[in-house]
Amino acid sequence: MTAPTISRLFSRGITRTLLTPHPVEHYVRSLGVSWSDDPTGATVVAVDRPVSDVTVITLRLPAGVDRPAPGAALEIGVVVDGVVHRRHYSPVDSAARSDGLATIAVRRHPGGVVSEHLWSEAAPGMRLLLGNPVGEVTLPDTRPTDVLLVSGGSGITPMLSIASTLAGEGHCGEGATGRVAWLHYARRVEDVPFRDRIRELSRAGVEVRVVPTVAPDPSDPSGHPDPSSRDLGGHLTGGHLDEVAPWHADATVFLCGPDGLADGLSDALGADRYADVLRERFTASNGPVPEGDGGTVTHVRSGVSAHNSGTTLLEGAEAAGLSPKHGCRMGICHTCTAVRVSGATRDLRSGEVDTEPGCLVQICVSAPVGDVEIEL
Ligand code: FES
Repeated sequence: MTAPTISRLFSRGITRTLLTPHPVEHYVRSLGVSWSDDPTGATVVAVDRPVSDVTVITLRLPAGVDRPAPGAALEIGVVVDGVVHRRHYSPVDSAARSDGLATIAVRRHPGGVVSEHLWSEAAPGMRLLLGNPVGEVTLPDTRPTDVLLVSGGSGITPMLSIASTLAGEGHCGEGATGRVAWLHYARRVEDVPFRDRIRELSRAGVEVRVVPTVAPDPSDPSGHPDPSSRDLGGHLTGGHLDEVAPWHADATVFLCGPDGLADGLSDALGADRYADVLRERFTASNGPVPEGDGGTVTHVRSGVSAHNSGTTLLEGAEAAGLSPKHGCRMGICHTCTAVRVSGATRDLRSGEVDTEPGCLVQICVSAPVGDVEIEL
């Protein structure tokens, strides 16, 4: 089968939908098409490294693939040493962008296979695997009147997309009926990418502050506060919320950032109000594994058995030399789902234990409770 034929086969979004739950490249590969012929991937058209640990990549999406809704993420895959690794990145663009491009920002993580690979290798012309979009939280089609965005670190990207979309629609600013405020936290303001775009948003009526969580070093000339912080500093407090959005009690609140930031927001808002916060996650919020959990995990397809002392089934399988299919590693994309043939597993997000034989489990967020057989 030729590449143009394959291209026609996969050129419509509906085709992608019909291929769910597997990413399309799975099927492309099963047809014997090489990676370089894969018409469903994204092509890198521009790369920038604006701060010391972030790669900003602009991608051309294949025909028929829309950019995800503001706040949602694209699944990006790279092949490193013959193994496919996938992660999720939220485009920073406004929903109004119509040139078929999407811009993502990839922060380097120590030991992060994908982020390190893209930091060192990303260049125009590079091809990336593309899976299905995911997102627990997106900007609803009926825009909320008042919006408060709270983010930290890599959480800047979905918030940039939401804020840009709202500002572009004239949702805030002089004469508008809505209000949009955004608090973004970073160790140092100068480590934050997209500061120019944040200033543009400020001019468009978004009440935005970039808040440094560590005090600037007075001996470092680059360490002086950026005007965008406007004297806010340290971790989130109720005072910060009141400063940017004194009306926040009735606002729709979006959150994307680490657990410490979520805890701060919960303390500031109170548990009842925090329950309404729409939180997008970049990392799994797995709870601790109780003492006594763990057991021998038998991977029935590969015939490999290994003791798992209480890590996730995915990590246990990888430690045993297997390479199970996975994507987000945080319970969102379902790429890692496998049949638990027998035994009990704990969902580390909720702590619940399930024992029903023949059930599908997400192995990235499940750990064995006793001996388990899993179809891997
Ligand atoms: S890898 Fe995404 S749900 Fe497990």
